[in-house]
Amino acid sequence: MLSKKLSEALNAQINTELWSAYIYCSMSNWALDAGYEGIAHWFRLQAREEQDHAERLADYIRRQGGKVFYRSIADVPNDWGSPIDLFLDAAKHEEMITKNISNLMQKAMTEGDFATQVFLQWFVTEQVEEEDSLRAILTDLRKIGTCECGCGLHLIDRELLQRSK
Ligand code: FEO
Repeated sequence: MLSKKLSEALNAQINTELWSAYIYCSMSNWALDAGYEGIAHWFRLQAREEQDHAERLADYIRRQGGKVFYRSIADVPNDWGSPIDLFLDAAKHEEMITKNISNLMQKAMTEGDFATQVFLQWFVTEQVEEEDSLRAILTDLRKIGTCECGCGLHLIDRELLQRSK
């Protein structure tokens, strides 16, 4: 059984995960307009992952006897200067999500709620992966930073098109 405080905090995280999905849809849309098919594809799959995260949280709240609330989602940016700006923003966003998950874990620990700590463990691991994959893309983008013909960016875009899940 979830405490009211923890149930509210997990519900807030549902909203943040759906907001993340909305941000990544917007990033995908920007990339499509800018002609980066692979980047657009990568962010579209990322948006789906965020929806899955929200569903995972909702299922857990229900299984623990809590109530799920879907609240309005805040506006998101729609414009970026370049692919590197896009990925820098995404990396910053994921760092913020990692802090959120740590705060949730801290709350569960303070309450002695072991089930929620075990449930949140999955998100802790997931955040390590998410931050790592964004760092890897940013490293590649920085490496081709001096390539003026655009072929490096084209290759990265083709590579991101291969993402399957
Ligand atoms: Fe659901 Fe990208 O964290």
